[in-house]
Amino acid sequence: MITPTYNEADNVVPLLDGLEAALADVTHEILVVDDDSPDRTWEIAERYASTHPTVRVIRRFSDHGLSSAVMAGFEASTGSVMAVIDADMQHDETKLPEMVSMIQAGDADLVVGTRGAEGGSYGEWSAFRRFVSWVAATIARIFLRVSTTDPMSGFFAVSRDAYRRAAPAVNPQGFKILLEFIGRNPGLRVREVGYEFRNRVHGETKMSPSIIRSYLLAVFELRFGRQVKGQFFLYSLVGASGVVVNLVMFSMFELLGTGSIDVGFARPLRWSLIAGIAASIVSNFTLNNYFTFWERRYRRNHLVQGFALFALVSGLGVIVHVAVFQFLQDNGWGNDVLGAGAARLVHDGIGFLVALVSNYFLNVNYIWRRRPEA
Ligand code: GDD
Ligand code: MN
Repeated sequence: MITPTYNEADNVVPLLDGLEAALADVTHEILVVDDDSPDRTWEIAERYASTHPTVRVIRRFSDHGLSSAVMAGFEASTGSVMAVIDADMQHDETKLPEMVSMIQAGDADLVVGTRGAEGGSYGEWSAFRRFVSWVAATIARIFLRVSTTDPMSGFFAVSRDAYRRAAPAVNPQGFKILLEFIGRNPGLRVREVGYEFRNRVHGETKMSPSIIRSYLLAVFELRFGRQVKGQFFLYSLVGASGVVVNLVMFSMFELLGTGSIDVGFARPLRWSLIAGIAASIVSNFTLNNYFTFWERRYRRNHLVQGFALFALVSGLGVIVHVAVFQFLQDNGWGNDVLGAGAARLVHDGIGFLVALVSNYFLNVNYIWRRRPEA
């Protein structure tokens, strides 16, 4: 039994009591994996362990994070079936004997406690969180052919054999340990047990919007990780949204009929063009800063500097795009095969792709390179 904790001081004793009661007829050990919680959860757990020989506490100092805490617990455990449960009493510990016996009977390699299966319920979850959870399950179903209704569940039991097979490939970041196990083990026999999600009474959730991002990354890396880096995928998503922003702004200004500005060289510039490009640079910077490169984001007084650098790189990207396009046009590549019109489109597409990749390279290595924490 593994239970990860971070600031669960008021929950840990009721949880351990609940687990001891639920597992009274099952041979078991309980490992509390605490990431040196500031509220001293580890101390309370250690005191409990001193009078309960089945309970052990692992207090981690240098490492942190939910999935890696669970992996540390798995590694330190000794049973032939291992289970994970949240420490905040939101999962139903009375389902554990059933989950464990399904694995012991050889009916499954992994049993997920889910809110979506029969007999399960989401408790008082908001419509938004239900929707996020549904989207997550659908994405997993489509891209990974994972059929569980709750791939983000933190409540599951797994056989030691299945764990051994999957463990070396697991990427222990974020909230998605279960997904890693299922996604990396196509042959795994997965079953579900429904449970009713309870509300948190003490403490607060550590889930943040960034887990949506880390979930998308995880699915992508599980599916395409060998070919393309997940970060590039997020970057391309942002790029695609920038194209939409650009087109929307462009059309709005065209409809308003704002005309053009004479900048003195070449032809007058249309306001719509300027507005579209400016809006997409602002939205791309914002999304890249708070989504793609979240861990390395610019904060407060560094934002302006980051934005200026990004705008510079974007400008460079436009030049690269135009240069590649002109070069291909001048050479007339593909004109005879595709016809001049289609070839022009292809040249434009190639210019776009070259600029996308070169901008990505500059953004990763210069604009959002790893900087010491401000
Ligand atoms: N050791 C350790 N380190 N434990 C952590 C960390 C960490 O960095 N972050 C969270 N935990 C522990 C919490 O103390 C709790 O016991 C459990 O992990 C779940 O964290 P919550 O903060 O309660 O998450 P939630 O209730 O919002 O998340 C629910 O939905 C997720 C996604 O669907 C739970 O059902 C999760 O299990 C589920 O993955
Ligand atoms: Mn919780």
